Amino acid sequence: MTMVVTPWEVRGEIDYDRLIREFGTKRITPELLERIKKHTGDLHFLLRRGIFFSHRDLDWILDEYEKGNKFYLYTGRGPSENVHIGHLVPWVLTKWLQDRFGAKLYFQMTDDEKYLFKRNLELEEANRLAYENALDVIALGFDPDKTFIFSDIDYAKTLYREAIKVAKRLTLSTAKAVFGFKNSNNVGEIFFTSMQAVPAFLESVKTGRNVPCLIPYAIDQDAHFRVARDILPKLGFYKPAAIHSKFVPGLLRGGKMSASDPRSAIFTVDDPETVRKKISAAFTGGRDTAEEQKKLGGRPEICSVFRYFEFFFEEDDRKLEEIFSECRSGSRICGDCKEELAKKVIGFLEDHQKKRERARDVLEKFIVRD
Ligand code: TYM
Repeated sequence: MTMVVTPWEVRGEIDYDRLIREFGTKRITPELLERIKKHTGDLHFLLRRGIFFSHRDLDWILDEYEKGNKFYLYTGRGPSENVHIGHLVPWVLTKWLQDRFGAKLYFQMTDDEKYLFKRNLELEEANRLAYENALDVIALGFDPDKTFIFSDIDYAKTLYREAIKVAKRLTLSTAKAVFGFKNSNNVGEIFFTSMQAVPAFLESVKTGRNVPCLIPYAIDQDAHFRVARDILPKLGFYKPAAIHSKFVPGLLRGGKMSASDPRSAIFTVDDPETVRKKISAAFTGGRDTAEEQKKLGGRPEICSVFRYFEFFFEEDDRKLEEIFSECRSGSRICGDCKEELAKKVIGFLEDHQKKRERARDVLEKFIVRD
């Protein structure tokens, strides 16, 4: 299947080297990781394992930081459904970066985007989900004094006056070329990228001086920031820097974990029974029979269960390596491996769901609105 990677669709076998070439980003090199480590003392496993694999101007962000010009962070969520484990990946690294660099974070909830792009989603529902999804963000432990979460709808007065400055410099032909829009797209969809650009310079607007911005996201969102990087210098701001993650794959064969196919995704609000069922149906790299598996070994490279350990549920590199080699050698059977993963997922979710409920009491500490 041909590869498609846009902010609204990810499909086919993902070739990350090709994305680096086609999107014109840079690979995160061991040298760059060493430079980060100089400031952070250690490296998050998402960096060590190359799950964050690509960037734009991360070296420049570090140059500025070393000169005493601190950066702020920006990331976001399109609230159309519950949050799934894949969404948490960029947020977990964002939280680590906030802790290690003492950075402020703007977190955008694009309820406007989801209303415009999803045929059956009402505006009130997208707006409600913005605050429900914010609970998942807060549950990850962001610093309430340094984190600003907002719904586009409820922060529109602040955002709109900046968004139109972007929109004025974005032609329809560029929007079509970058996003593949057709004449049948509604005009809100065409405008929307201007809203996603704003938090990439909002701190500069607020402080009245240019502040570098670093945006962590999975590489599907990149088109928005190619446009933003083109236009922001014309408004007198820095180009935003970015750091890109790979996709947590779906539980089924092929594609990324996606909220639009609930069977492919583990949601943060799933109960243990649902988690067990989904994981037991997951695509693995196992052989047809246990006998064959013992003889030939499994294929962790193509196994979604292995990927969950790698991306989220096994922080210890040595243990991950053990899982890999046991699978390869045939001594690890898929049923046991799935059970082990299910236990870890259920344990994580139990804790996350508690924190998520507690987040309701402190939600307003994080929210900014007009
Ligand atoms: P959304 O809600 O589609 O996705 C939220 C974040 O999760 C990433 N993501 C994934 N990461 C790993 N594995 C997956 N399977 C997976 N699926 C999604 C996305 O790349 C994103 O980082 N328009 C945006 C919201 C937004 C935003 C931003 C995102 C507004 N401003 C700035 C990133 C940075 C959206 O709909 O994201």
